Amino acid sequence: MNESIYDKYGGYTVLHSVVSLFYKKIMNSENLIHYFENVDLSRLIDHQTKFLTTVLGGPIMYDSKLLKKAHAALKIPIKDFTEVAGLLQETLVESKLEKPDIDKIMEVVASFKNDIITT
Ligand code: HEM
Repeated sequence: MNESIYDKYGGYTVLHSVVSLFYKKIMNSENLIHYFENVDLSRLIDHQTKFLTTVLGGPIMYDSKLLKKAHAALKIPIKDFTEVAGLLQETLVESKLEKPDIDKIMEVVASFKNDIITT
């Protein structure tokens, strides 16, 4: 059996630090910061890590059906989704994941686009 992306890079602790770097980048975007002003960031980092753990072949820790509800009130346009996805990709490159694994993760994230954006 192929090793999951989750296990390949060291599991939860490593993923958690990758996700922390991702939100650092988001918080540095003047365009994105307003979405997160009243959000408990450490709780969000935990939820995002659990989501990625679940979709990257680790233990199931997050019910992806919750994504739609979590984002509905935020009214996120496609351009902000694209910016966030770009920051995730940048984070994964800086964290030295291999290109095919980055492509796979970006594919998985893109597959949730319609749960996140408001059209
Ligand atoms: C790129 C794909 C994205 C993924 C995989 C993702 C994933 C998540 C997850 C797992 C949560 C936690 C939900 C919960 O508490 O159950 C969350 C919350 C949140 N996301 Fe996203 N997200 C994405 C894109 C975005 C974008 C584009 C924005 C804004 C531009 C955004 C803004 C937020 C905010 C503000 C919360 C906190 C909501 C709250 O706690 O009330 N997300 N996201």
